[in-house]
Amino acid sequence: MVHVAVLGYGTIGSGAVQVLARNAGSIAARSGSPIEVKYILDLRDFPGDEFEDKIVHDFDIINNDPDISVIVECMGGTGAAYTFVKAALESGRSVVTSNKELVAMYGPQLIALAREKNVNFLFEASVGGGIPIIRPLISSLTADVIEKINGILNGTTNYILTKMEEEGIDFGTALSQAQALGYAELHPEADVEGYDACRKIAILSSLAWGSQVDYRDIHTEGITKITEDDIRYANAAGYKIRLLGSSWKTESGEYCAMVAPFLVSNENPLAGVKDVFNAIFVRGNMVDDTMFYGKGAGSLPTASAVVADVVDCVINQGRNIRIHWDEKKCQIKDHLEYERRFFVRMPGDTDDSLIAQCFGSTQAVAAEGMNDKAFITDIMKEKEFEAACAKAGTVISGIRLD
Ligand code: HSE
Repeated sequence: MVHVAVLGYGTIGSGAVQVLARNAGSIAARSGSPIEVKYILDLRDFPGDEFEDKIVHDFDIINNDPDISVIVECMGGTGAAYTFVKAALESGRSVVTSNKELVAMYGPQLIALAREKNVNFLFEASVGGGIPIIRPLISSLTADVIEKINGILNGTTNYILTKMEEEGIDFGTALSQAQALGYAELHPEADVEGYDACRKIAILSSLAWGSQVDYRDIHTEGITKITEDDIRYANAAGYKIRLLGSSWKTESGEYCAMVAPFLVSNENPLAGVKDVFNAIFVRGNMVDDTMFYGKGAGSLPTASAVVADVVDCVINQGRNIRIHWDEKKCQIKDHLEYERRFFVRMPGDTDDSLIAQCFGSTQAVAAEGMNDKAFITDIMKEKEFEAACAKAGTVISGIRLD
């Protein structure tokens, strides 16, 4: 029997306890040993809860119990979570976490500590909810040099964008629904401002390239400025609006990364990704494009990834699963040098000559019942686009094209 402790009995922690209980038989068969939750650490009590007898309020009870071999961290944040995870690894326990902030910030140190102690630090649930995406990068795509990662990495914002688009629901109502469904972060600005997706693309890029992509180096924009009018124009031109996290390596070997809303062509499979679903393209130089798809948030899908990591810890007791992610910093190229096309909306009475003067050659976009001057630019650098917008003065919105 393997005993585990779960830190944090919120959306993901309670999901992990549920998954371990409901699928106990098949999980035991796959891991070669029954797995039982012995403790659940939380500040709160849960009177009447099925697992209330397992609740403890003191981490030392867990870390001083020699029965515990795997600790599951679902608390979030980088304060107590970091202290407990570090202490657990130092005491020779394997740790599984869903905490993307923790992984983005301390990933390489915690991976190195786990290697030193010959235990495991696994974090499948930190990106893409229930989608296996970390494991493929660690152990499946190892023959390739990863050239590009591009995907929808946040379930809450994808839910909001698709509800606005398909059901005409306003931003605030869609966000409240996402919160009620357990998709959103405790502070939902982490979702809607793109910070959550930023940490996730930092984690994926670090794993792809083996060195530390600092999330603070990634230019990040959220979806708070996207309006129903933007969506109408995008749809009329054959696009959907999606919040994408992207990173890529240029031909000259520079590393680039960005999080922002993009117009995605209806022909791109990412345009068909709706609601809480996430999808991530990973392009290797040998395999070409691979795509990973599934529910990107929510209690049980995310807990499924957490528990799969617990199973891996049990199968690999006494053996460290090698993860190539060093502390050495990966230099990210300034986003102002990136090149792409842009969708622009300006007031309907804008002179065409002003548009030509500022943006050069453009392709007009019309939407039924709308009177703005909307267009798509040729390929230009981000810094050129910024200068053009400043010169034009009255740009209502500017959204990148994928
Ligand atoms: N708030 C996150 C999301 C949870 O919506 O994707 C999963 O990481």
